[in-house]
Order: sequence, then C-alpha cells, then structure tokens
Amino acid sequence: MPGHANLVIVANRLPVDQVREPDGSTSWRRSPGGLVSALEPVMRIHDGAWIGWPGVTSEQAGDLQPFQLDGLSLVPIGLSADEVEGFYEGFSNATLWPLYHDVVAKPEFHREWWESYVAVNRRFAERAAELAAPGATVWVHDYQLQLVPAMVRELRPDLKIGFFLHIPFPPTELFGQLPWRRQILEGLLGADLVGFQLSGGAHNFVRLVKQRVGHHTEGNDVHLPDGRVVRAQAFPISIDVAAFEELAGSESVEQRATEIRAALGNPRKVLLGIDRLDYTKGIYPRLRAYSELVADGHFDVHDSVFIQVATPSRERVEQYRLLRDDVDRLVGRINGDLGEIGYPAISYLHSSYPQHEMAALYRVADIMVVTPYRDGMNLVAKEYVACRLDDDGALVLSEFTGAAAEFRQAWQVNPYDIDGMKAAILAAANATEDELTRRMTAMRRNLRGNDVNHWAASFLAAL
Ligand code: G6P
Repeated sequence: MPGHANLVIVANRLPVDQVREPDGSTSWRRSPGGLVSALEPVMRIHDGAWIGWPGVTSEQAGDLQPFQLDGLSLVPIGLSADEVEGFYEGFSNATLWPLYHDVVAKPEFHREWWESYVAVNRRFAERAAELAAPGATVWVHDYQLQLVPAMVRELRPDLKIGFFLHIPFPPTELFGQLPWRRQILEGLLGADLVGFQLSGGAHNFVRLVKQRVGHHTEGNDVHLPDGRVVRAQAFPISIDVAAFEELAGSESVEQRATEIRAALGNPRKVLLGIDRLDYTKGIYPRLRAYSELVADGHFDVHDSVFIQVATPSRERVEQYRLLRDDVDRLVGRINGDLGEIGYPAISYLHSSYPQHEMAALYRVADIMVVTPYRDGMNLVAKEYVACRLDDDGALVLSEFTGAAAEFRQAWQVNPYDIDGMKAAILAAANATEDELTRRMTAMRRNLRGNDVNHWAASFLAAL
C-alpha cells in the first residue's frame, strides 16, 4: 500500500544523531558532514520525509519510530552492530570512499561487506517504497545507497527516482577495480536522473555504462533496452547562503569572533582549517606547509596562529585511526619545535562545534586553507566565502575540490606540492586589501547566484 509522502529523501544519515546522555536519557544532535548541511534547508522548503540512520546501532537505539523534529519529518532506519561494521565502516567507508577519492588510501574489497551493503540498501529501498505516495518523487543520496534506485523502481515503478552523488565519481580505470562494478552501475540506472557534482563525474559514469553494461549512450543520456532514458548531469551543490550571511552578521557571532581573537592574543594573522578528520582532506601537508613557513621566518608565532579544527569522524575505521595518530604527532612536533609559552604555532581542536561557533571562526580567519587531495565539492570553502560580509579574507583552495571550478579567484593549490602551497599561503598573506576585495567580491557574487535552493530546484526540475 503506498504512503503519503510526495517527496522522500533517502540518505544514509538522518540530519541528527541520537546521543545518550550520562543520565541514560537520549537526545538528538546535528550529524556531521556536508550532505546534511546541504539537504536540511531543502527539506524545510519541500516538506518531505527523510529516511536515514540515527548514527547508533539498533542494539543501542532500541525501537525507533518515525518522529518530527524542528518541523522535519524523520524516519529512522536501524543498523545492527554487524551492519555498521559491514555496510557502513566496511563497504561504504573502507571500500567505496577511498576508491571514489582517487585511491588516496587503499580500498579493501571483502565479499561479506558487499553482502551487508546489498542487505542494507534493500532495507532503505523497502522503507522508501512504503512511504512514497502514488507518483511521488524519491531522491536518493550518496555512495552508501547506490543500489537503492533500482530496488525502489522494482517495488514502485510509478515513482520518479533521482539519485545524487555528493562525492567524486572516479575515473573509469579506478572504478573498474570494483568486483561489483556492474551491480553498482545497474543500481544507479534505476534512477531517472543521476546527478554529480561536476560534469567529469557524469562523463565517467556514462562511459562506464557503455563499457561495462553495454547500453547505448548518446551524450549524457543512457538508452535502456526497455525504452527508458536515464540522464546523467552535473549539479554543483551549495549552501544556504542567506542563512549563513545572517548568522555571520548576527551580534552574537560578532561578539564571539571578538572573544576568539582576544583569547588568541589578537594576532595579526589567523589561518584556519576546518575539516572532518579524513585522509582525503590534506590536513597533514597543509600543516607541514605552514610549519615550514614559520620555521623559515615568514610567520611569527607571536603574531600568527593556525587554527585547525578536526571533527571526529569514522573513528573505528583503521585508516582514520592511523590518520589521527599521524596528525596528533605532527601537531605535537610542530608546537614542540616552533611554539613558545602561550604561543603555539597550531591551535588544534579535535572536536565538533555548532554552526554558530564555525561562523565566528570564519569571521576571525584572515586566511582559510582548504587543501583536500580530492573532494566532491567542499562546503567549508563556501561557508567561509558566505561569512566574509566585508568582502575581505583570503581563500587558499585545492584545485582537486569541486569548489575550485566555481572559485576561480581563490589562491588555487596542488596539495601534493608543498612548496607551491607555501607560496600560495604567503601570497595570500601578503595580498593588498584591494586584491583581497577584488577576489572575494567575485567569489561572493558567484556563490549568491548558486545557493542550495537553486541546486535542489534545478535537480528537481530536471527530474
Ligand atoms: C561526506 C559524505 C556524506 C557523509 C558525511 C559524514 O559529506 O558525502 O555522505 O554523511 O561525509 O560522514 P559520516 O560517515 O559520518 O556520515
């Protein structure tokens, strides 16, 4: 029996995680990552239902029923401890994540993980099929759920099905390593529209479908034997620009920014990095580049500081543990070698903060340093630009992010090239006010014209 929702969002995570307080009660906290930041405002406008995982195992969460929170209609999907290990930590984050990010870390291929991925994708698909009203739109998100489109179509051929991949779609040679490459492609082909951050991803996908599945393709269209046409297209994602501007301009954020500057000793230059603690983000080479600039005398710890916020992420996955140890050690060494009493070279925070605190940090930062080895878009770069209400501040941005395609006026860098990064950070630090304004004005203009509502509206219109 069909349900009542006219728009069903299907994403691995709900926008909130369940947390257990010390007294045993439970509450909800905003989930990490760019996907949630982007989709939340979209949900508010479209009044849909959001299916996702509450971030803890079913054993811990107990029986969770659909609920309303802050005007959002949320439908939790349970994952057992085994599924968290096989589907989430395993196949999603130790196979697909590194594979899709240019094998920055080595992907692992395990058959039990794949089986768990299939089983969990089926659970999401069945729930979506139950909730959707006749002829409704189901919008599936990201690499954790690539089989869902075909599974939903099989259950409910009456629905419009869209899929959007928030991370890069890899070159055909890398995707070809995947033992289940054909199943994944067929899963995605269940959608009417498959969206990517960049047109390169859409091209890779169409080429692979032709190569590996053998369907006829024409430009961005795939023609299936039953006459259905699937379109692949780029929709660069964005943020809620107006909401960030309002937050950044609020008195309380301004006050907090002044407090932060004072706590740092009112330095001349503040550099900032904000990332999930992930090996794709290029945190390590960025801190090395800065530390060498300090060692070379270009920055002085008495009047400059690099704030690095690293949000805890996927902490049970081996590669993330190794990364945390590496970064801990590097920060310790840099501060040990270059810091002075009361003046660390790097102020390192392994913690997650509410948006209000982030906005204050963006206001404080003279130079925002965003240096992923590979990133689908990178919304932190967009948030920084949105918060620079006075058209000042400098963005140093990896050319391997999706955002680099839009922010041509950033100081673009190759994160593998430490000397190049040092030169760019230095150029940004020494730029004249006019130059900063010229660059930031252009980036802000671009961002305003492409906010997240525009992104969602274009996707849904194309669908
Ligand atoms: C990226 C992914 C999202 C994911 C987020 C946080 O933004 O594209 O799908 O939700 O990271 O990662 P996590 O594993 O904590 O959900």
